[in-house]
Amino acid sequence: MSKPSPTGQAKAPALAADAPRPRILPAPITAIASGKGGVGKTWLSITLSCIWGRQGRKTLLVDCDLGLANADVQLNVRPQADLNSVLKGWIDLDAAATPIMGGPGREGGFDLIAGHSGSGALAAARAEDAARIVEGVRRMSPHYDRLIMDVSAGVDPTVQRFCRGADKLVVVTTEEPPAMMDAYALIKLTKLGGTHEPPWIVVNMAENRVRGRKVYDQLAAACEQHLGLRPKLAGIIQRDPRVSDSIRAQLPIAVRHPQSQALEDALRVAEALNGE
Ligand SMILES: Nc1ncnc2c1ncn2[C@@H]1O[C@H](COP(=O)(O)OP(=O)(O)O)[C@@H](O)[C@H]1O
Ligand SMILES: [Mg+2]
Repeated sequence: MSKPSPTGQAKAPALAADAPRPRILPAPITAIASGKGGVGKTWLSITLSCIWGRQGRKTLLVDCDLGLANADVQLNVRPQADLNSVLKGWIDLDAAATPIMGGPGREGGFDLIAGHSGSGALAAARAEDAARIVEGVRRMSPHYDRLIMDVSAGVDPTVQRFCRGADKLVVVTTEEPPAMMDAYALIKLTKLGGTHEPPWIVVNMAENRVRGRKVYDQLAAACEQHLGLRPKLAGIIQRDPRVSDSIRAQLPIAVRHPQSQALEDALRVAEALNGE
């Protein structure tokens, strides 16, 4: 397992305690996807993992960005194992988990399964690889309360396979039309691929709530009109300079800026996703 990181020393901020009830059904697997890159998927995946960890929910974050994985970089950890070792058949998926901030159930930490950083060796990963990873994540679900798959940008078959393998699909967009178009394309393709539940939308880096809400309304209207489904609003996250400050410091925002607007907005997203 990795050496303790600076994140392991951080004091937990006072986030709203929301004691989980004993789970009867298997834990939901949530895919965080987007179509367009750079919209904040990895930041949101890490932030949700921290929030759920601090709520006492055992959480596993799987960095499914097989080409340019970077959740480990945002967290400043150097995992000894990653998805590359799993796909090569060297280790099982559960052996690739690295505890972050003490791991689940301790000081509000969680487990991370890292993608393959740096080399881009898995950039040509196939949909079958994604299917194997999804099966492995599903097998691990009895051991967790929440499982998050941070999916790479794009709409290729690998991305679609991850999205279809999840119980909840969260599509992240910004206010920019290219991000909205790519979010729509991803929703359309996953619908054609037979996803059951309507997806959730997060509008990230919104200038304000009103503008973020307009983006959701536009996207939801297009999906309703052309695809016959209405995505649900998971939340609006406002643009906040403390996000990039946290990423530069390689610390989760819940540690670096516990009072920030972006964390407050992300808490609402976690609540919305907890609600169903
Ligand atoms: N709410 C936000 N406010 C300000 N900047 C943000 C916000 N969310 C994300 N960012 C910026 O967007 C960049 C890309 O985020 P990242 O999580 O790596 O995106 P993705 O995983 O979708 O490629 C980050 O480096 C960060 O600076
Ligand atoms: Mg990413």
